Amino acid sequence: MYTLAGRVGVVTGGGGGIGREIARRLAGEGMAMAVLDRDGAAARRVAAELGGLAVSADVTAADEVAAAVDAILARYGKIEVLVNNAGICWTGPALDMPPETLRTMLKVNVEGVFLVSRAILPHMIARRSGSVINLASWAGKTGNAYFAGYSASKFAVIGLTQALAREMAPHGIRVNAICPGIVVDTAMRAALEAQQRQYGLPQTAEREKLIPLGRVSVPDDIARVAAFLASDEAAYMTGEAINLSGGLLMD
Ligand SMILES: NC(=O)c1ccc[n+]([C@@H]2O[C@H](COP(=O)([O-])OP(=O)(O)OC[C@H]3O[C@@H](n4cnc5c(N)ncnc54)[C@H](O)[C@@H]3O)[C@@H](O)[C@H]2O)c1
Repeated sequence: MYTLAGRVGVVTGGGGGIGREIARRLAGEGMAMAVLDRDGAAARRVAAELGGLAVSADVTAADEVAAAVDAILARYGKIEVLVNNAGICWTGPALDMPPETLRTMLKVNVEGVFLVSRAILPHMIARRSGSVINLASWAGKTGNAYFAGYSASKFAVIGLTQALAREMAPHGIRVNAICPGIVVDTAMRAALEAQQRQYGLPQTAEREKLIPLGRVSVPDDIARVAAFLASDEAAYMTGEAINLSGGLLMD
């Protein structure tokens, strides 16, 4: 059985989409949750719903991350689960991608994961336990056309996951990644669909036909696996990048 009751976790980008659903599920399984988002109002809405703590911070701003971690420790005294979920995506022809867009994606998706991990891991090391869950993507395992920058950033997330998993294992800390396929009901998906329309690229309904399980996923599909990774059920699992794409990607 899961043993999450009484644990403390933080979800970055927890104000909406997949992060909100992960925060809901972990709270539903008895965890105290800190909801971190650069959209402070969104974080407050989710935290109020869960009886948790809202922290307004941009994962790319080291000072804001440090203040957020201080606030979480002041409230709960420990952090046992970190979900690095905050991320952004741009889709379109690679040659149309402004270099600044690539830089921003790398900054949020890669540097953001590093900065938040760097701020929280010392506390986990001191307690000799912890679970870190990074949201990568199937685009982090295969370079899909029209996702050049995003793919580059998510490959990097998997590399970071594996390196940290090896470094943190002696400290009793597990580090894993989840690689979702197509997740609907999120602001990111809505924005992607608009970009795909703009460039005349295949829409979600068409891409859904390629999914062996026959449907796209919803945020709760991801939250269930995050809860497993957070729990002692996954005690022997580290350095993994779990495909969660309905069979879209198998490796
Ligand atoms: N939606 C999908 O199909 C899909 C597929 C694979 C992987 N993912 C990954 O899952 C994660 C969540 O995706 P989503 O669809 O829920 O996205 P979303 O855009 O719906 O939600 C992202 C949340 O992160 C917050 N955020 C963004 N940048 C931030 C920053 N710099 N600092 C703090 N908060 C920030 C946003 O305010 C928002 O609340 C991302 O890492 C994404 O790359 C999504």
